[in-house]
Amino acid sequence: MAPNKQLRMALVGLGYWGPNHLKTYYQMESVKIMKVCDFRPDRWEKIKGQYPDLTYVNNLDSVLTDQEIDAVAVVTDVETHFKITKKCLEAGKHVFVEKPIAQSSREVEELIRLAESQKKVLMVGHLLEYHPAVRELKELMKRNELGKILYGYSVRVNLGKVRSRENALWSLAPHDISVLLYLLGLEPDSVTAVGKSFLRKGVDDLVFVTLHFPGGILAHLHLSWLDPHKIRKITIVGDKKMCVFDDMEPVNKLKIFHNEAIRQEEFDFYDEEYVKLKEGGVDCPVLSKTSPLRLECEHFVNCVLEGKTPLSDGRDGLRVIKVIEQIQQALDKQ
Ligand SMILES: NC(=O)c1ccc[n+]([C@@H]2O[C@H](COP(=O)([O-])OP(=O)(O)OC[C@H]3O[C@@H](n4cnc5c(N)ncnc54)[C@H](O)[C@@H]3O)[C@@H](O)[C@H]2O)c1
Repeated sequence: MAPNKQLRMALVGLGYWGPNHLKTYYQMESVKIMKVCDFRPDRWEKIKGQYPDLTYVNNLDSVLTDQEIDAVAVVTDVETHFKITKKCLEAGKHVFVEKPIAQSSREVEELIRLAESQKKVLMVGHLLEYHPAVRELKELMKRNELGKILYGYSVRVNLGKVRSRENALWSLAPHDISVLLYLLGLEPDSVTAVGKSFLRKGVDDLVFVTLHFPGGILAHLHLSWLDPHKIRKITIVGDKKMCVFDDMEPVNKLKIFHNEAIRQEEFDFYDEEYVKLKEGGVDCPVLSKTSPLRLECEHFVNCVLEGKTPLSDGRDGLRVIKVIEQIQQALDKQ
């Protein structure tokens, strides 16, 4: 580790999402980017003009064997996550890997064991766990301000990005599942799901999921990359307040509705007044303007430099993958 507490990093994968990580780490004083790796030189040619001072390589070995590199950010396609992360951990690097962490719980368990035995940080990019709106929502729920949580649902739909091997479940659901598990602090008892592939045989473009959590909490996910709307919205309904996190809103991304359904203790079966609906005002808490990606990257760097366990560590990745596996089983059975 460099004495001035600068993390010497490499970034692997310069496709659609990798350049966002590169830009973020490049702006951080606590990071020195040692190498940028993509096996397709056309990918780095595109961005070289913006970062002419960086070293670009086309093979992972050049990163693995470089003793000066402390940590690697893996921003490649999901099929490669397990293999690249494993190699990086074996080479003694701390690893940030994009979501989903791998393609099976068996693979994730192996990565967790490896990270522990190597005493290295393993963090998965569950971006929304670092979103200021989700953090605020978590604080509200911790303080029981929403009351008993009744149900939640998310809509994550858009036209694209269509993926050829990973289906809409594996591509989109890690966001919503990681948020639900984080907010509720619970894992589902059971799931049901239906999906449909329209564009490529065997790759679902549309998935509807129902999750049954302990305590009767119900959740629903609507996931699609074949939709006319661009919606990224999560709604949580408690018996005291209801919250909507709408990531498409430029400001006021989190709205807290002081809406309540008050049940009368004693009521006549025919009494229509046995529930009183109270419609209150709406609060929009002021949230940090720092981007979730910046917060996520800073968290990774701080965890490595300070020897801490990330919020979205390998175990968090495992919890999410176990739920995705359950849902995939339900899809396979339909
Ligand atoms: N958090 C988010 O909001 C968000 C958004 C988009 C994508 N992602 C995640 O980011 C990851 C990358 O997605 P993408 O859309 O950028 O994929 P992509 O297919 O556009 O890019 C992946 C890149 O990795 C490179 N690559 C693959 N294997 C490699 C290897 N062994 N060595 C070097 N380079 C290699 C490819 O050449 C390609 O350029 C995925 O895990 C995806 O789920 C996250």
